[in-house]
Amino acid sequence: MNNYVSTKRPGNLQSAFNSDCKHLLTDKFTKLKKQIVSQLGRDTLNSAWNRLLKQFEIEASIIKKLGSNSVPQIGFDELCKNEGKFSPDFEKEIRKRGCLIIKNVLGVDEALKYKEDVKKYISNHVGEIAGFPDNNPQVWELYWSKAQVAARSHQNFLLATKAVNNLWHAEPTAAIDFSYNVAYCDRLRIRQKGDTSFTLNEHIDGGSVERWEDPEYRKCFDKILSGEWEDHDPFDASHRISANMDLYNCSGGCSMFRTFQGFLSLSTVKPGEGTLRVCPLIKLSTAYFIMRPLLDDLIDSKEMAGAIPGAQQHILPSLHPHIVNNVVSIPEVGPGDCVFWHCDMVHAVEGVCNSPDDSSALYIPATPLCPKNVDYVVRQRHAFIAGETPHDFPLNNCEVTFPDRATPEDLTELGKLVMGWSKYDELVEDEGQIGVTLARKYANEILGL
Ligand SMILES: [Fe+2]
Repeated sequence: MNNYVSTKRPGNLQSAFNSDCKHLLTDKFTKLKKQIVSQLGRDTLNSAWNRLLKQFEIEASIIKKLGSNSVPQIGFDELCKNEGKFSPDFEKEIRKRGCLIIKNVLGVDEALKYKEDVKKYISNHVGEIAGFPDNNPQVWELYWSKAQVAARSHQNFLLATKAVNNLWHAEPTAAIDFSYNVAYCDRLRIRQKGDTSFTLNEHIDGGSVERWEDPEYRKCFDKILSGEWEDHDPFDASHRISANMDLYNCSGGCSMFRTFQGFLSLSTVKPGEGTLRVCPLIKLSTAYFIMRPLLDDLIDSKEMAGAIPGAQQHILPSLHPHIVNNVVSIPEVGPGDCVFWHCDMVHAVEGVCNSPDDSSALYIPATPLCPKNVDYVVRQRHAFIAGETPHDFPLNNCEVTFPDRATPEDLTELGKLVMGWSKYDELVEDEGQIGVTLARKYANEILGL
């Protein structure tokens, strides 16, 4: 099959949550779980689980006091003053929480201008754009508005992604360069005041059963699956870069390795006004949902505790109460702020958009330069030229005929770099960074530069 042809079906955001593959949750998962537990040892698992619940209790009391302030925040100017790096104390906090807000990455006027441009783009094509929900879209199946294309390669946004990508590490020989962010072209949200349709319950993106089923993805959770969850390092990319996070061609499957999911806010939104909610305990929540299907009550069944082939990982009050009870709304964000949350992070969206204005954002994750991401950029580049839907998303192709969509001619120098039109410098000063050179050479070769 031509690698440039998308195999997704038409749809919208909801497609990622509805699976056509439920029948594939078969006995093979019972066998897989038993195999994992026989290696791990039932006593070791039970002991690890009990320690985890105790730690949840301790952290729960802290989260109760902190509420939204559990989510670390920093000003973009402070980051710049510190040469684009986080202070050790702040970094420690991000590593514990798994999320952060960087304030004023873009100026308010610039962010609001993006919003006006997007609204104009939408109003130019009434009835031609798919979205969720179908009858009154709040999340639009749009990828190529000029504002989105500009935001993904905005100098400040790239500095922010460089900082968060560098929270991660990998083996020196692993082909990855955290200093460059390539573009992952996702959609956007213009959530209207009073909307109640865009409610998302607690979930995790980046596949579901794949975390146990794919051997390479499972290695990311080796420490948890050997009963030593305390030593789990959520920021080790060594096995992420080859993990298969989408074994079932899921509509919400992500072909790229995202260190953090993210959005650029285009509105002022406070807690309770329809904002993002997160469980700001990345190591604990990951240990919890990875161990959960292995416990006694589920070990003899094919159930994977909210993981269903072809959909996102659902986090449920009945099965994951400690996680759900420790989910908080993020603090107030304003136009130009960036929100980032770890790729294993449990998150949700508040049910009602109570903000005085709209609640709007451009979804843009942090996606470092590595072969997995470059392979997708090649396909995405083709989609951009044609104005087609990028390959990870429901195949709507709404923008193909839009004369006002962005085209390669609109790309700045940075835009050309993040979208796969410019060559990466293969000369790396530090000879110990073999993996960086490998990532850049691979990119230049695959992109034909
Ligand atoms: Fe999500």
